[in-house]
Amino acid sequence: MPSNEFYLSQFKARSPIHPPKRVIIFDTSMRDGEQTPGVTYTNDEKIEIARKLDELGVPKIEASFAISSEGEAEATKKIVKLGLSSIITTLARPIKEDIDKALWCDVPYIHIFISTSDLHIKTMMKTTREEVLRQSVEGIEYARDHGLRVEYSPQDATRTDMDYLIEVCKAAEDAGAEMLNIPDTVGVMTPRMTFEFFSELKKHVKTPLSAHAHNDLGQAVANTLAAIEAGAEQAHVTINGLGERAGNASLEQVAVCLEAQYKIPTGINFGKIAEVSEMIQHYSGIYLPPTTPIVGDNAFAHESGIHVHGLLAHSGNYEILSPEFVGKKRRIVAGKHAGRHGIGSMVEGMGFHPSKDQLKLIAEAVKALGDSGKSVTDTDLYAITKNIMNIKGEERVKLKELVVVTGNTITPTASVILIVDGKEYAGAAIGNGPIDAAVKALTNVEKGFRDMSLEKFNMKAITGGTNAVADVTVSMRRNGRHVTASSVNGDTVMASVEAILKGMNRLMETEDEK
Ligand code: KIV
Ligand code: ZN
Repeated sequence: MPSNEFYLSQFKARSPIHPPKRVIIFDTSMRDGEQTPGVTYTNDEKIEIARKLDELGVPKIEASFAISSEGEAEATKKIVKLGLSSIITTLARPIKEDIDKALWCDVPYIHIFISTSDLHIKTMMKTTREEVLRQSVEGIEYARDHGLRVEYSPQDATRTDMDYLIEVCKAAEDAGAEMLNIPDTVGVMTPRMTFEFFSELKKHVKTPLSAHAHNDLGQAVANTLAAIEAGAEQAHVTINGLGERAGNASLEQVAVCLEAQYKIPTGINFGKIAEVSEMIQHYSGIYLPPTTPIVGDNAFAHESGIHVHGLLAHSGNYEILSPEFVGKKRRIVAGKHAGRHGIGSMVEGMGFHPSKDQLKLIAEAVKALGDSGKSVTDTDLYAITKNIMNIKGEERVKLKELVVVTGNTITPTASVILIVDGKEYAGAAIGNGPIDAAVKALTNVEKGFRDMSLEKFNMKAITGGTNAVADVTVSMRRNGRHVTASSVNGDTVMASVEAILKGMNRLMETEDEK
């Protein structure tokens, strides 16, 4: 396996015009990230997120907009009490009430914002430029007088008149702000515009600049990097790029680009990136498309025969980073584009050693399944291989009985009897719906499958109409082992239960292979 130095040497260092020596990562997953429509974290989740961000090496964590709810303020105070290495901050308007709330939370650092574009000033705040400037200065001075370090954001900066923006930023700097964060609040910038915008502003202020880019047109990461090329010393980012509307710049992408393409240190502990991304997917309920750079399921997955062949010869042929560098694992995927090399390495990984002829038959069966329009899961490959190698073996987990009750006046409830290694075990659960209840009942049996986690669940209707056939694919994990399984059935609950059972059996088999 090539060294990490090999991978990093594949990137030609670019020569930013004013490269900072180091970039501060300011994570706003718990503030802007939590403003993602539909996302809210409990206080316990926030505490866990803060701990993980600290382990990830994030120097500044925006824990909340403390004034927005009592719960937000309490979570922030608890996070401060953890005594992490990261600096904890909270968002505030430049008004006494907000700043007092931040003081109550005991944060050492406050992020004060107010809109500066004429559009916001006139239509939203119904005030004047003079008033915004006065409030900014008074807010910063009040916070400084009470011992807080201050970061200042002129909201909608990129649609603000440049002369006025410079005036406000200079006033904020004179009032004691130590960082000027420049938000592209509605994501209107291009990288080139961002570079010019930051270069211009930098000529007029001494205080370090920070970039806060939104992803409305998919340019948040590129714009953040352009701001850094122009000399910005801090990047506002979120895990998985969550945030208002289309989100913010993703921490994973900005930090890895800085490390690999720009050779600018951030202090991020890259090996933890995948773990933190998964935690946020789980807590936020927002699961990333597989093609998401760096942390998506397919970021280090390969199916095509030519690619897998090249990869097995030297992973640098088709990977620009080692998956382990960001805490991921390479996946070779069976499918109609797969070649014999790839399928051979997968079945070897499952503990099988087929002959050349057997491998040829296995590859043909995989391609035939792929040609029928099906994505080939681990359990399919496992079953095909066992069949072709004529290996007998009973499933260890079998379904004896499943009863699901649902309706408009009762909570969906499921009870199940499984036969595990010949013995009967019962389980029951309630759920949001019949599928949820049935799936929970399966992992609730006394035999103890609670450590098997269902990471992904995907259901497709193969035909239209109310009698559609359901095709369910699941991704499951136990003790760091990951499998995929699928099932097709005219009954949506049974398709789900069968897919989970296949996954359970496969997970138990991988345990035996250890
Ligand atoms: O996008 C934005 O303008 C913000 C500010 C509060 C910094 O999130
Ligand atoms: Zn924002």
